[in-house]
Amino acid sequence: MENRRSVLVTGGCGFIGANFIHLLLKEYPDWRVVNLDKLTYAGNLKNLQTVSESDKYRFVRGDICDAARVTGIFADEKIDTVVHFAAESHVDRSITGPADFVQTNIVGTFTLLEAARKSWLEGSPRAENLCFLHVSTDEVYGSLGDTGFFTETTPFDPRSPYSASKASSDHLVNAYFHTYGLPVRITNCSNNYGPYQFPEKLIPLVFNNSMKGEQLPVYGDGKNVRDWLYVKDHCEAIVEVVKKGRSGQCYNIGGNNEKQNIEVVTLICDLLDKKLGLPESGQPRRSLITFVKDRLGHDRRYAIDAGKIKEQLGWEPGVSFEQGMEKTVDWYLANQEWVADLVDGSYKQYYDKMYGR
Ligand code: NAD
Ligand code: DAU
Repeated sequence: MENRRSVLVTGGCGFIGANFIHLLLKEYPDWRVVNLDKLTYAGNLKNLQTVSESDKYRFVRGDICDAARVTGIFADEKIDTVVHFAAESHVDRSITGPADFVQTNIVGTFTLLEAARKSWLEGSPRAENLCFLHVSTDEVYGSLGDTGFFTETTPFDPRSPYSASKASSDHLVNAYFHTYGLPVRITNCSNNYGPYQFPEKLIPLVFNNSMKGEQLPVYGDGKNVRDWLYVKDHCEAIVEVVKKGRSGQCYNIGGNNEKQNIEVVTLICDLLDKKLGLPESGQPRRSLITFVKDRLGHDRRYAIDAGKIKEQLGWEPGVSFEQGMEKTVDWYLANQEWVADLVDGSYKQYYDKMYGR
């Protein structure tokens, strides 16, 4: 039945996953959510503290590479929908330590696909609404010059260990559709921003350093371009793909908000100056901007053509960059303890107490 789903969300304690679970529990009261998350450094149980007692929600601490665990969840929870976020997600970390990216992003996705295949195609007859949605990235398409957009048919050209691991997982997901008929969908989206983003990523990092009066590191010349997407818009797009998308299809999701990194950093500084006044130094926060050594293999420009999802599923982003940044800065200002806990590592004590290390 379309209005009842048993959804396995992987990586729900991370940035996008947590926003997605909040959206589902609020807007889709007939959907039950099981959140499978390993609680790596990027997973934070506090992101879901307010829903932890809901009878529509269950948290399982576990690794997506653990086949027995994953298969058990499919059986116990009668999972008919998978929304797969769990991944190692940070490009800089993939440059210094690619092994975890290969393990989680490739082997973990393979493990989930196998569990879905065994549970959905070898067991009882297929239900109508089965859906395995793999959340991927625009980085699989490589880097653009000054013009052009990524479409769903742009050839893959991943250039970092992170994007190569995501491209591999996309290929595996497609292979399970063509080979076994597994009802998969893939979304490739651009840079998200908003509440609960780990402060290693550009926007929350700049917020946190600005508040502490520390340098704001801008890689290279600061002119690399990203297409910024407000996270709630992204989560709403994913729901549309679950409800109305077609199996075997890929959908690009973007914000129509191309900005150079230096523009983003400057905007955060100016918003903080406007909301809080100048810091004690009397200098505008822009003065903290420091150009540093470029990221290895730094992709120059990403830009998404999100025409397919607009035409076929009726989704388009609702939040402009200016509105989204205002909301984001306000959220981080109101949740400074959340940021501080992540930066000093104390968030880990919270779940270590509950689950052990
Ligand atoms: P994140 O790093 O904030 O969260 C990842 C979550 O996955 C964490 O909760 C972590 O504990 C969990 N996890 C990691 N390894 C695991 C494992 N082996 N088993 C179970 N759980 C594990 O990531 P995010 O930014 O929320 O990104 C979510 C997904 O969206 C990723 O697949 C990423 O590639 C994709 N994506 C992100 C963006 C973005 O801008 N953040 C853009 C495009 C695509
Ligand atoms: O495009 C989608 C991707 O967006 C996702 O697939 C990734 O999971 C997500 O992390 C994000 O990747 P980026 O590398 O684009 O995000 P990040 O926030 O790390 O960097 C954004 C831009 O800012 C990028 O051009 C690098 C630059 N940067 C980043 C940091 C952390 C800086 O200039 N200084 C910094 O300190």
